[in-house]
Amino acid sequence: MKVFNIASIPGDGVGKEVVPAAQRVLKAVSDVHGGISFHFTEFPYSCEYYLEHGQMMPDDGLVKLKDFDSIFLGAVGNSKLVPDHVSLWGLLIKIRREFEQVINIRPAKFLQGIKSPLASPKDFDLLVVRENSEGEYSTVGGRIYRNEEEIAIQNAVFSRKGAERAMRFAFEMAAKRKKHVTSATKSNGIIHSMPFWDEVFELTAKDYPDIAADSQHIDALASFFVTKPETFDIIVASNLFGDILTDIGAAIMGSIGIAPAANINVNGKFPSMFEPVHGSAPDIIGKGIANPVGQIWTAKMMLDHFGEEELGSKLLDVIEDVLKSGILTPDIGGTSTTEEVTDEIIKRLKAL
Ligand code: NAI
Ligand code: MG
Repeated sequence: MKVFNIASIPGDGVGKEVVPAAQRVLKAVSDVHGGISFHFTEFPYSCEYYLEHGQMMPDDGLVKLKDFDSIFLGAVGNSKLVPDHVSLWGLLIKIRREFEQVINIRPAKFLQGIKSPLASPKDFDLLVVRENSEGEYSTVGGRIYRNEEEIAIQNAVFSRKGAERAMRFAFEMAAKRKKHVTSATKSNGIIHSMPFWDEVFELTAKDYPDIAADSQHIDALASFFVTKPETFDIIVASNLFGDILTDIGAAIMGSIGIAPAANINVNGKFPSMFEPVHGSAPDIIGKGIANPVGQIWTAKMMLDHFGEEELGSKLLDVIEDVLKSGILTPDIGGTSTTEEVTDEIIKRLKAL
């Protein structure tokens, strides 16, 4: 029996509703498989924890999390209790940075049963590999003159190591998929970092002769996500470009409630973290109608990460099957509850 030890952090709001739902699904996955099991240890780190302890997690929080096989997180944020930047930086961003989760991946896939805002969506299935540690989101810079002469300077930081690491990750993912990597650039407008990014991409691509590689300027690329998303396989992007592209990806799928994400540690020193794209959804807390699909799809990405890709794709097939049969939460036009959607996914998994 292969046991995976997982730290679960439901966090705030609907995180507390969808994480248990996804854990039930993972339990069913292990029952169906027979040879693996998931052992969850729950941590209460959240805004409520902050109210009680004055911090989002204890001083040794990271030490406690460090040896798990992965972290399974719901959502963080309750601005009535704690300002969002405090809760975000005190937990999520701390884990991402300290555990060197330098890659963020977010798939976007056309799912039958969900109404995409695209008028006639083709069968798209793409995945954005976003550099998650540097680039435009650096803390280098400053502000001077708090008057009409005020100046703000924000420096982007691109390292060869960081760029190449994200690109290699993208090529290796593409090898298991449709063998096509698109690099998001803007070397016509940004004259230092982006020509550098292009250069690293061209060099890296040479090591993967079987994989088609091309570059697109981010503005055109953003529009192609809307007009022809089916032409993409893997897109590799800097931190900011990836951030924006992945929101378009979630939008064309039809709801933020179904979009999954993973923060990947590539050097094996620390666990990776799996979390849906959505936040704590304060407007629907406690109603039992949070869409569990984003969290369950996130569990699928965790299975992939554990090398259980066959199981992962079975799980995604089941999710799609359930959606196709109209068992949907209200955010995607249905009337089903979190529990009903989860139960149906479990039922169909067990029937495989
Ligand atoms: P949100 O994602 O929580 O909600 C946006 C809208 O989507 C709301 O109408 C909500 O009801 C809906 N929604 C979200 N998840 C859903 C689900 N599973 N099922 C059905 N509908 C769903 O974003 P918002 O409102 O901007 O942020 C709320 C709180 O969450 C804030 O405190 C924010 O900082 C935090 N947040 C945390 C994130 C994280 O933990 N990664 C990401 C985004 C926001
Ligand atoms: Mg974003």
